[in-house]
Amino acid sequence: MPEAADPAFLADIMRCFTDKTYAIPARWLYDRQGSELFEAITQLPEYYLTRVETALLEAVCPHVADITGKSRAVVEFGSGSSTKTPHLLSAVDPAAYVPIDISADFLASSSAVLQEQFPELNILPVAADFMHPLTLPSAVADLPKLGFFPGSTIGNMVPRSSIDLLRAMRGNLGVGAYLLIGMDRIKDEGLMLAAYNDQQGVTSQFTLNLLTRINRELDGDIPVSSFRHLSIWNDRYSRIEAYIEAREDVRFTINGQSFAMAAGEKIHAENSHKYGLRDARLMLRAGGWSPVAEWNAPDDAYTLFLAEARQSKSAP
Ligand code: AVI
Repeated sequence: MPEAADPAFLADIMRCFTDKTYAIPARWLYDRQGSELFEAITQLPEYYLTRVETALLEAVCPHVADITGKSRAVVEFGSGSSTKTPHLLSAVDPAAYVPIDISADFLASSSAVLQEQFPELNILPVAADFMHPLTLPSAVADLPKLGFFPGSTIGNMVPRSSIDLLRAMRGNLGVGAYLLIGMDRIKDEGLMLAAYNDQQGVTSQFTLNLLTRINRELDGDIPVSSFRHLSIWNDRYSRIEAYIEAREDVRFTINGQSFAMAAGEKIHAENSHKYGLRDARLMLRAGGWSPVAEWNAPDDAYTLFLAEARQSKSAP
């Protein structure tokens, strides 16, 4: 195994090509380069999600504070560049802010930027994959929590995983916690597809960067230019699916093993689920969160839900 390789990354990639599952968990898209490319995606004219959610947050956060009260510990899952967080922090005046992100260096730089904006704020970054069990800093153990999960990142999980995650969040944040979560809505297919097939080709670079990462970290020689990015709408599963498709017959090696793919064969690299309101509410409740408020963007393009982890009293 190459010295610096993450064994879990190697295992997932070898399974993809050895068992011909041709599916790779989307979290591997986010190395430093991938995280930067995703930030570039959020600025694209076609990628409405960030723009719409940021405007909605600006309007809604004071109402969130009215419901949750102030001085909670805000725990953000997958904080990335934390660009939307100031709206929430200004409104809820938290006792502490815990950004959680898989990319440690990204986390450090975005926490430093935020600290400049909020010099008094106690920022306690946690570098972790929030899909796995995690321990919050002991300094926030006794504080009531407000979880923040923006960006419709929940949509990158299949329903079983999204419900596992919501349940884990409930376990981590505790009874009495609130969760503010953004979800992208089902809408005109052309608008959804354009967001994942931008004119400038940034989404294509983002997806294909996965092959570059395999080459660099797992001693691969995949000819990246022999592949292309492809996004489709799967109506039955209510999701955009991203694929990496071989343009021609290709042979390559990874970590000393040889593989071949035929022209047209595809690697499934990501899902982005889109939701109806009832789907979303049911998913929250299945994950142990009672929806208490929801705010819709114009044209119902996007919804922010506030949900509460209540002590269960209802019939099973
Ligand atoms: C991070 N996540 C919510 C993005 C999405 O919309 O599914 C990732 C992304 N992939 C391609 N474009 C954006």
